[in-house]
Amino acid sequence: SSFIKNLHNIDLLSSLNMAISTPPIAMGIATAAAVGMVALTMKRRREQKVAEYMKAWQLSSYDSDPAAAIDTLTLEENVPTPSEIGPNQILLKVEYASVNPIDWKLFSGGLHGNCPVASFPYTPGFDVGGTVQGVGAEVSNLAVGDKIIANTGLVESCTDPAPTPGGPAGAFAQYAAVPAELCVKVNGMDLKTVVGLPLAGLTSYQALFTGVGSSFNGEPLGDAKEGSKVLILGAAGGVGCLAIQMAKKAKCHVAVTASTSKMPNDSSMTKIDFVKSLGADVVIDYQKENWATVLAGQEYDMIYDCVGAMEDLTEHAPKVLKKGGAFVSIANFDPSSKSTDDVRFCVFFIKSNSEELQSLVTMVKDGDLTVPIDSEYKFSEVKEALKRSIGGRSVGKILIKIDH
Ligand SMILES: NC(=O)c1ccc[n+]([C@@H]2O[C@H](COP(=O)([O-])OP(=O)(O)OC[C@H]3O[C@@H](n4cnc5c(N)ncnc54)[C@H](OP(=O)(O)O)[C@@H]3O)[C@@H](O)[C@H]2O)c1
Repeated sequence: SSFIKNLHNIDLLSSLNMAISTPPIAMGIATAAAVGMVALTMKRRREQKVAEYMKAWQLSSYDSDPAAAIDTLTLEENVPTPSEIGPNQILLKVEYASVNPIDWKLFSGGLHGNCPVASFPYTPGFDVGGTVQGVGAEVSNLAVGDKIIANTGLVESCTDPAPTPGGPAGAFAQYAAVPAELCVKVNGMDLKTVVGLPLAGLTSYQALFTGVGSSFNGEPLGDAKEGSKVLILGAAGGVGCLAIQMAKKAKCHVAVTASTSKMPNDSSMTKIDFVKSLGADVVIDYQKENWATVLAGQEYDMIYDCVGAMEDLTEHAPKVLKKGGAFVSIANFDPSSKSTDDVRFCVFFIKSNSEELQSLVTMVKDGDLTVPIDSEYKFSEVKEALKRSIGGRSVGKILIKIDH
């Protein structure tokens, strides 16, 4: 189907290699403040008047303990609004942002050394939704006034030089400079229903169906299709709950792990009830049963690992996967994790892509995908939102409403 595109793009490997070998000081994740200070000659083609200064959350330095780093975040009130944007960028009035674990994982000094923060002060956040206020000279697909969502791109940000002048700006600010090619129009939709989609949705899409994603060693990721047997570990989280729905839409048989913990806003419902409501065929309470015992010998085609426990790869997966089945992980970055004759191990970072994001937005419009919301925080409560994420108990997406 057009939904399951298999675009195997091996260029991702070179992007990742570049990301891994680029020194932190030269990395391109720029804060909105940094964008504003860069002397660019490109003029916005069309723009609405914006204030000279904006509010933005800023981090001043790493801390090996991300929770301690969150405590040092400050909401700065006089950050220069990006005054010039690159020819392929838009200036976005950010109305909603969504939180992902990568936001605070970077605070420790880099995700396993691969994706450090570019420079300080740093404005965190990758998922944005809002209204276009200005477009660069080369932008033809977006106009002032359009509502868009985007994942500003972890891998794209970690290149030297930055992919666009100044690089993408952080989401936890009133304005951001965003590469136009990563944006998807959502005119007429409630931003709240889709702003949690970009990073988590693209990750699950690529893990399950490969798309433009590929593993660190260039291998394709999942190849889920009608009749495939897929096990999702950590299914109640932001990525897992979207993966269940995508896999069911593709007519896969879907097993998941979850717990009987209560849902945040409904004490009568457990996470097990929640993942069942999203269509999971088999639900295993991971706190009571070992999934490898429950599913042993059932020849699954793929395990999508959103948890990252080493024993799941080494001890449990061989019992459940068919020989050579895929263990696609987004959370096991241990360098000792390797493929064997029995299990094909793949680990990767999301690759931001608007064509795939458009497919996901269409699924939402068609009623085939919903983005469950764990909680919504005010702009002044970014620290609380990040602490909710670091606690690891959220269900679906954590949102931040940005005040103006
Ligand atoms: N590589 C990439 O490109 C990429 C992209 C996105 C995310 N990630 C990573 O993927 C992981 C998941 O992301 P996320 O956004 O889904 O996180 P999340 O929303 O914070 O996940 C929280 C959920 O995970 C469940 N959970 C925790 N441990 C579990 C276990 N052992 N078995 C089953 N469920 C468990 C929790 O439920 P309980 O209360 O029942 O434990 C909770 O509902 C994170 O490590 C994140 O950094 C990587």
